[in-house]
Amino acid sequence: MIFVNESSTPSFHLTNGKISYIFHVLKGSKILEHLHYGAAIRPRDNYDYLIEREVRPSNNLYADTHTTSLEHIKQEYPVYGTTDFRYPAIDIEYPDGDRISHFSYTGYSLISGKLSSDKQPMLRANVLEDETLIIHLKDIYSEISIDLHYTIYKSHNVIVRRSVIHNKDAKPYKLNRALSASIDFSHNNFEVVHLYGAWARETHMERSPLLKGVQNFSSTRGASSHAHNPFFALVDPNTTEQIGEAYGFSLVYSGNFLSQIEVDTYNVTRASMGINPYHFAWDLQPGTSFQTPEVVMAYSKDGLNGMSQQFHNVYREHLLHNQTPFKKVPVLINSWEANYFDFDDAKILEQAQLAKDLGFDLFVLDDGWFGSRDSDNGSLGNWTSDLRKIPQGIADLSEKIQAMGIHFGLWFEPEMLSVDTPLFKAHPNWIIGNPDKNISHGRNQFVLDFSNPDVVDNIFEQMSEVLSTSNIDYIKWDMNRYISEPFSNFLQRHQQGEVFHRYILGVYDLLDRIRKEFPEVFIETCAGGGGRYDPAMLYYANQNWISDDTDAVERLKIQYGASMVYPISTMGSHVSEIPNHQVGRITSLKMRKDVALFGTFGYELDIVKLSEHDRDEIREQIKQFNLYQTLIHQGDFYRLRSPFEIGLTAWMIVSKDKKEALVGVFQSQASANPAYDRMKLAGLNTDLEYSIKELDSDMKEFSSRYGDDLMEIGLLLNENFTGRADEYWGREKPGEYNSRVFYLKA
Ligand code: DGJ
Repeated sequence: MIFVNESSTPSFHLTNGKISYIFHVLKGSKILEHLHYGAAIRPRDNYDYLIEREVRPSNNLYADTHTTSLEHIKQEYPVYGTTDFRYPAIDIEYPDGDRISHFSYTGYSLISGKLSSDKQPMLRANVLEDETLIIHLKDIYSEISIDLHYTIYKSHNVIVRRSVIHNKDAKPYKLNRALSASIDFSHNNFEVVHLYGAWARETHMERSPLLKGVQNFSSTRGASSHAHNPFFALVDPNTTEQIGEAYGFSLVYSGNFLSQIEVDTYNVTRASMGINPYHFAWDLQPGTSFQTPEVVMAYSKDGLNGMSQQFHNVYREHLLHNQTPFKKVPVLINSWEANYFDFDDAKILEQAQLAKDLGFDLFVLDDGWFGSRDSDNGSLGNWTSDLRKIPQGIADLSEKIQAMGIHFGLWFEPEMLSVDTPLFKAHPNWIIGNPDKNISHGRNQFVLDFSNPDVVDNIFEQMSEVLSTSNIDYIKWDMNRYISEPFSNFLQRHQQGEVFHRYILGVYDLLDRIRKEFPEVFIETCAGGGGRYDPAMLYYANQNWISDDTDAVERLKIQYGASMVYPISTMGSHVSEIPNHQVGRITSLKMRKDVALFGTFGYELDIVKLSEHDRDEIREQIKQFNLYQTLIHQGDFYRLRSPFEIGLTAWMIVSKDKKEALVGVFQSQASANPAYDRMKLAGLNTDLEYSIKELDSDMKEFSSRYGDDLMEIGLLLNENFTGRADEYWGREKPGEYNSRVFYLKA
């Protein structure tokens, strides 16, 4: 899949028959020039025909040349300081303070599969199918070298890029900027799609025109954050969900990131992604290397859905942690919205027993089980049972719950410290912040300095103690505040620019150690909902709690946006109480179930307080999810109607063999005397005939329809009242919040 034309100026073409990525080495400067990324073309002996050079007033690298300005050459990994005035991928400070470098090509290596690292989360690859190209570059002014890694997958239209910077010099250098990847497109005929939000309204989608100049989405909060997700897509202005070109970029990183798009005055679009250079400076000591996180680049001609499916497939196959103690995807019940901090062992045991009776697989005890925590005011960092609430301790409680025949899960917030704990009293300087200055609290808590390995060791030991002495199959790993006053009492003065990145490396280290010590524990990551919903967390986790907003209508936007890049099998989604705790909205149990069905599917309410009728309905809902869970979690997801545009949201999931599908239609606005609506489906086999039944309804049986018919004409959402006019006036009206799920079987 990787074609190399060997010559004094080699060219490289990565292609799997669906996508092509081409660049070559420039004569003289030996800098890499980018030539093409997008739909596949056939391999050629030479790609010089793709070179574009105008003579433009500019600074040229060499005397008597007029086309050697790097500003006008599409770059593969742009450097700071010489003739390219656009934002670079790399900026290195030399010992004398100078920041000019020139990286020349020195060679390449080919690898079957890809290299892995136990220090950073990365995608896996199949050694028999996937290939990696490593380009070696060397600075002509120093002994710094860079390896650019490119992995191409045989069965995914995905290229994964990262860079590794090595200091082979005897002197230390400083990295002021080290992005993972940068790519120059020869035009700006794009719109940009990204996901923004805030606590409880994460992953909202925005699509906007690309302006000349620089546009970026980033985090400076110490986590990938609720505000912007480390994902963006460049799409043709005509691209829809089903057709047109889409280039997606997704960063495997949980800390401060930068997604930047720069359009120059010649319409060249530079897309770059990596660790945010803001408050970043890495002291690159002699003999050491710096690894950037991976950027996953997905390309599709089949619209945004095509791009999303590339991400979903590659993440499900090559990123997600797949070991689990469960025989099937567990339907869980979480105690948070039922109890908050107000519970004791009797209450938990009663809820767990009832959960078992209703058919749940897993009971999760959320916040409030440790230290003496009756509110969000303390005890974080003291991971011992609160004996006032659980007199026999968590080990005993876990045994009792497991003895009921239901699995048990527990909440932790490992990265935080409260001032009322023995740990804070023993190590007040283990929190991030300068003790001589004000250190702000967030939710009354402080962030442990995970750049300090002793801190990570301590939390690992505390968590291991709980996990090894109790019967725990699941951890909810929460993180409820951002990092402000970023200063480490552990790092030296010249390393303070490293605090954010070292913090996140410490988090990865703890996750990795927990994973290795307890490989079968199921992990759901969370950060006040979706504050750290990113591919790096998914490398360690099985799923992510994507929002504290459990309202079914609000969730449509959150789940729709998140599906741009994340598989629905990773989206923690719960049926919760009404009136909803975040927005006060009242929706039916059916609608709450129908929305949560397109996710991990769980519950978060006090089942003890529910009526028998509601409990019976929940019992049936769980059976229904179990029936369709393989289809839901392994099928191809298609967005059909956007909640950001109209009051009707629709999506569907089609099994890989196209023999089954589930279609969800959600109405969040009622209107009288509605227009007709034929909703075109997607992803079906044109030649197969599908029987269609509406779940939870014995009334509405549709006749069977062929795939082409359903995709070209669509599902008729209005009923046919011919000869039934009398029924029309007495019919049950859908109301404001209404949902329908159709099951299609070939
Ligand atoms: C924030 C999470 O998102 C919630 O689900 C819950 O676990 C609380 N933290 C507990 O403090």
